[in-house]
Amino acid sequence: MEHEDPVFHALYTYTKALSVALGYRDLLTRLHSERVLGLSAEIGKHCDLTIKQLNALKIAASFHDIGKIGIPDHILLKPGKFDDAEWEVMKSHSEIGEKIMTATELEGSQLAARVIRHHHEHYDGQGYPDKLAGEAIPICSRIISIADSYDAMAVTRSYHQARTHGEIMAILEKENGEKHDPKLMHIFHDIIETSKFKSAKV
Ligand SMILES: [Fe+2]
Repeated sequence: MEHEDPVFHALYTYTKALSVALGYRDLLTRLHSERVLGLSAEIGKHCDLTIKQLNALKIAASFHDIGKIGIPDHILLKPGKFDDAEWEVMKSHSEIGEKIMTATELEGSQLAARVIRHHHEHYDGQGYPDKLAGEAIPICSRIISIADSYDAMAVTRSYHQARTHGEIMAILEKENGEKHDPKLMHIFHDIIETSKFKSAKV
């Protein structure tokens, strides 16, 4: 990724190496992360973010699932549904990701780490790991959550078929206010129509 800010560049290249490593175990997660970056950046442009927040958004979006590197293969690559114990292990990826990002000790890593920790919080407080609600969830985490949900449904995985754009929007709309921030969903509605990350399935 091209970027003039040397602080951002250092953080990005450090973590990129890890994401390549994760890609050898789970290529789908890596490709998904690249699309989540694109979508999150498009949403972020319309959110009055500071430069620091925008950088943290891009870093955290690119590496939101980097903690999956710490999830054992029999869970990470399991084709079927998780049982409760497996699900608990899988959920730890957001905290592992936070630790990995913090470990770089680079400028900006603390903010990005916090965004990664909270990318599975829900607007109504029913997410994980901390059950944060509303604006207590970092705005960049709320943005990534929408981009992540959209893209996860737009592609075929072992456990589900790709959905059409209309189907995905209907599901996101149903979850609006529960899983997602209504103000950000409003912005998302506008940008997704012309986005290159719009679901290819019609
Ligand atoms: Fe995740």
